[in-house]
Amino acid sequence: MVASGARTAAVVGAGVIGGGWAARFALMGWNVRVHDTDKDAQPRVEAVMARARAAMPGLWDVALPEEGEVSFHEDLAEAVTGAEWIQESVPERLELKHEVYAAIQAACTEAAIIGSSTSGFRPSELAEGAARPGQIVVAHPFDPVYLLPLVEIVTGPGTGDARIERIRTTLRDIGSHPLFLRREIDAHVADRLLEAVWREALWLVSDGVAETAEIDDAIRYGFGLRWAQMGLFESFRIASGETGVRQALSQAGAVLKGPWSKLTDVPELTEELIETIAAQSDSQSGRRAIAELERIRDANLVAILRGLKARDWGAGRLLNATDRRIGGAPQGLDAMSLTGPLPTGARAVPLDWADRNGHMTEHRYLQAFGDATDRFLALVGCDDEYIACGQSFFTAETHIRHLAEVRAGGQITIDTQLLLAEGRRARIFHRMWESSRLVATAEHMLVHVDLESRRAAAPPADLQERLGRVAKAHAHLPAPEGAGAAVGRPISRKGAEEAE
Ligand SMILES: NC(=O)c1ccc[n+]([C@@H]2O[C@H](COP(=O)([O-])OP(=O)(O)OC[C@H]3O[C@@H](n4cnc5c(N)ncnc54)[C@H](O)[C@@H]3O)[C@@H](O)[C@H]2O)c1
Repeated sequence: MVASGARTAAVVGAGVIGGGWAARFALMGWNVRVHDTDKDAQPRVEAVMARARAAMPGLWDVALPEEGEVSFHEDLAEAVTGAEWIQESVPERLELKHEVYAAIQAACTEAAIIGSSTSGFRPSELAEGAARPGQIVVAHPFDPVYLLPLVEIVTGPGTGDARIERIRTTLRDIGSHPLFLRREIDAHVADRLLEAVWREALWLVSDGVAETAEIDDAIRYGFGLRWAQMGLFESFRIASGETGVRQALSQAGAVLKGPWSKLTDVPELTEELIETIAAQSDSQSGRRAIAELERIRDANLVAILRGLKARDWGAGRLLNATDRRIGGAPQGLDAMSLTGPLPTGARAVPLDWADRNGHMTEHRYLQAFGDATDRFLALVGCDDEYIACGQSFFTAETHIRHLAEVRAGGQITIDTQLLLAEGRRARIFHRMWESSRLVATAEHMLVHVDLESRRAAAPPADLQERLGRVAKAHAHLPAPEGAGAAVGRPISRKGAEEAE
């Protein structure tokens, strides 16, 4: 069923890149209409969707909007009519792209944005002969589109400020990072950089200096890691040290004149060179199928992105900003119903939370429950500001029960029942659900502490009042099954009461 109220995107050309766009839009809650001339496009897009479902939602620490519907349309006009954003991702042939824009513009509204995934064409080339040239912009993404946030935007003179603003907000809404180019150029910015490295790499193989696996090692064990977090110029700044960038640059001229690059020259892709590269690539990676390499790549990217997220840096900082935007302002206790356990978590299980058994690994349960405890405490007033003023709760004891498996990509929610709030102590009970299935519980004894003396101390009256309000309401709830259980020996409710 088409999600009502959802925004609509159309994807024209659904190969590697179009499939990735469809997944990003749909997982961010948009309905997506797909048009491809190839009848086999649907299973391919569905395979991309399955990979994206496992990988993408776990980038964020909040639940994404409900997934939109992806529908397939033989008729291009049907796909694009009424769509707010139309993303063209047909093969890189200018005359084909022109044909496709003519058909799109004959059916779409003037307000729609037509983005092209083109790796190399300029917007002025794309818009040649178009009915409304200003409507077509370059929106160049990176594979896998559902994980990598960068989209290079190249606009033309007719794009207009209002459309530029809509491009910016729409891409932000789907968790992407639009990089607006100052002027058009063949192959934009990122592919220029990649092309330089690619050409050098071809020379290195052609000249027998290094094999494909060695070139890849030179990237992934070294500067590739550095570039994921700081890029070229910030890294150069560090390399310049206290001497400073100006001094370092003034000394760099000699190297630029030296034979450190073959960029002025292009290696010819002879049959021999093609065979050399293909054979080396086979021996480097041929034992793994493409689908397996894609899964490995996705899991690695999720781990890197979540690492940057914990550091609130680079692409990770964008993920945190998206968390805040999607999660919205936290609801206060006064606005919540206290007649049941309080909602304290909703998220997808990230790929890097799965262990070799394919399900969420033990310590991640504690992470998810720990986040729920933070959320519960913030609700009763122990938030960042309160902690900065010198008081907090420490966890004194924890008991987690693992009741059912949750796999990477699974959507979990957590609710929290307050079992006891007495003096310095609070005892809470979390339940973790996947849909209506109870998958784990956690019971924690929390102790209120003074952060200066690092000793237990009674909470101030207002915090006690809020805790008391929740405790009084939750006293009417049945004691949760499993509360007060010892490891390996669940005790009865009577036992739980005695344990108090
Ligand atoms: N592959 C990448 O890494 C990458 C990265 C960024 C941008 N791009 C750009 O994205 C675009 C698509 O590249 P791709 O790698 O996804 O190609 P692809 O060959 O995987 O997919 C192209 C799809 O377009 C379909 N198609 C062909 N003619 C069509 C038509 N007239 N109407 C509708 N669908 C049609 C094909 O059936 C195919 O499914 C290109 O412009 C490319 O430069 C590619």
